[in-house]
Amino acid sequence: MDDTITLLRRIDAYVEELFAPSDEALAAALRDTEEARLPEIQVSPAQGKLLYLLALISNARRILEIGTLGGYSTIHLARALPDGGELISLELEEEHAEVARRNIERAGLAGSVEVRVGDARASLAEMVEADAGLFDLIFIDADKEGYPEYLDHALRLSHPGTVILGDNAIRGGSVIDASDTTSSAMREFNQKLAEGPRLEAIVLPILRERIDGLAIARVRA
Ligand code: SAH
Ligand code: DHB
Ligand code: MG
Repeated sequence: MDDTITLLRRIDAYVEELFAPSDEALAAALRDTEEARLPEIQVSPAQGKLLYLLALISNARRILEIGTLGGYSTIHLARALPDGGELISLELEEEHAEVARRNIERAGLAGSVEVRVGDARASLAEMVEADAGLFDLIFIDADKEGYPEYLDHALRLSHPGTVILGDNAIRGGSVIDASDTTSSAMREFNQKLAEGPRLEAIVLPILRERIDGLAIARVRA
């Protein structure tokens, strides 16, 4: 088992070096996120590249992110936007949003990205209520307990073909049978993705600090 993890780490490092090299804006975003003592729970470089590619492949012009932190995943996603595209990222903590805005600005993406502060539950309800338009791609990555509810909101903000992504869908395997509230919520989220009549989905295992997963779903026509 240890050997397998060691090999997976070497493989991830190989893939990262080849396909997901860092650059000035990404490195500065990670550095400032760390210096501001925000939790170091952003996506990995390889997963950031995967998010970027999924946004490109789905031709996303409007992207919604739930859970900004320091804006590391935001930068990856926003880089896939075409001219005139936009990304709205929802974040509970004003302090996280401030760090993210600086990182996004430095990456040259301030013109296409808006970081909105508040509980995502309220922000999402507001967006549904205001009929503020639908999204082509929605990345869920905030508090895990909220995922089932975020998915319901995401579906209201989706059109046929919208791609819905969920980070941390495996959480070291705890999602399989652990009984804590976080694991139960993620299990419920995955089950909703699997059984939702408007969805086709899969969970892709991913190596981070531990084995985790990215849920990938598409809203049916
Ligand atoms: N997507 C980021 C990581 C996000 S970490 C990246 O990969 O770079 C999760 C973030 O969700 C944290 O910044 C946390 O403050 C935020 N969050 C937690 N609960 C939230 C809520 N109820 N509404 C909005 N954001 C929330
Ligand atoms: C945690 C949250 C995340 O979004 C993540 O990708 C990793 C860890 C956490 O809250 O521990
Ligand atoms: Mg996450």
